[in-house]
Amino acid sequence: MSKFLRFITRIANLKKKRNFPSVVNYEITSRCNLKCEHCYWHKTLKSTKELSNAEWEKVFLEHRKKGATHAHLTGGEPGLRPNVIRLARDIFKGIGIVSNGTIKIPNDIQTRIFVSIDGPATIHNKIRGVKVFDKVMKNIKDDKRIILTPTLTTTNYKYIDALVKIARNSGVEGITFSTYTSHSKGKDSLLLQGKQLDEAMNSLLKVWKKNKDIVYLTPKIIKILKTKAHYKTCFFLGNDFVSYDATMNIKKPCVIGEDVNCSTCGCIVPIVTHALKLADVRAWFMFDRLFPEKYYKI
Ligand SMILES: C[S@@+](CC[C@H](N)C(=O)[O-])C[C@H]1O[C@@H](n2cnc3c(N)ncnc32)[C@H](O)[C@@H]1O
Repeated sequence: MSKFLRFITRIANLKKKRNFPSVVNYEITSRCNLKCEHCYWHKTLKSTKELSNAEWEKVFLEHRKKGATHAHLTGGEPGLRPNVIRLARDIFKGIGIVSNGTIKIPNDIQTRIFVSIDGPATIHNKIRGVKVFDKVMKNIKDDKRIILTPTLTTTNYKYIDALVKIARNSGVEGITFSTYTSHSKGKDSLLLQGKQLDEAMNSLLKVWKKNKDIVYLTPKIIKILKTKAHYKTCFFLGNDFVSYDATMNIKKPCVIGEDVNCSTCGCIVPIVTHALKLADVRAWFMFDRLFPEKYYKI
C-alpha cells in the first residue's frame, strides 16, 4: 500500500464508528519478574490468576470476530508468555509488545517491541529493583524490532542524554519517552512538575533536534507531554480502545487503573494520538516509522 493510501486509511479509521474497539490492550500475565519503583501495575493487581493459552486463544478469536484488529500485549512481563504472544500474532492484523527486556522475545515474533529502559546501569537497576541492566543490553543488541521507552520520573529525568546514547550504541531502532503518571491527587515524589518538568522537556527538545533519526518525538508531542493538553479528550476514554487484565477484567479508564490522576498523564500513547488528531505532520511520519507496514496491516 502506498504511504499516501495508508495515511488516508488511518484518518478514516480514526473517524470510523465501531461496535467493538479496534485496539485492545491485554495484560497477558499476572506475573512480573521485577518490581519497579514507579510501577502502577503492582498497585492495580487484583488477582494472581491468569488465563491459560487455550483461554487466551478463545478470547482473541472472539474479539477479532467482533472487530478488534490490533492487540497490545503487556503485563506483568509478557516475555513470560511467548506462546500467548504467538497466538495474538497469528490472530490479529498487528500486535505490539511492552517488555522489560529481561527475557528476549523470540526472533520468530517479528513485530514492534517497546522495551522499558529507565536510565544508565546504576539508575536503571535502582528503579527496577535488581541488577538487570547488563542482561537487558545483551538481549536487545542490534534488534531493530525494539524502541526503547523510558518513563521519566524525578529519579531519572537528568539522564535523557545518556538514554539516547544507550539507544544509539545498542543498535535498536530508536527511543521514545513517557513521563510518570501519578495515582495520587496530592504530593507524589516521583512526579515531574514545575522546573523539573520544564528541564526534562527542554532536554527532550535538544536530543530530538540532534537525533531525529532515532528519537521518536516531535516538538508538538513534547509540548503535549508538558501541558497535558490531551487528557480531557484522551484516546483511552473513547470507544475505540479497551484494556483487560490477565483474568479479563476491564481496567478503567486505562491500564493505569481507576485511581489514576489523569491531569498528570505522561503516557506517550494518548499523547501521540492527540498530536495525530491535531494534524501534526511530523507525528504522522513518525507513526509510520513506529508501526511500519512490515509489522502492521491497516
Ligand atoms: C507496567 S509495565 C508492563 C510491561 C513490562 N513489564 C515493562 O516493564 O515494560 C509497562 C510500562 O509502563 C511503565 N509504567 C509503569 N508505571 C507507570 C506510571 N505510573 N506512569 C507511567 N508509566 C508507567 C513502565 O515503566 C513500562 O514501560
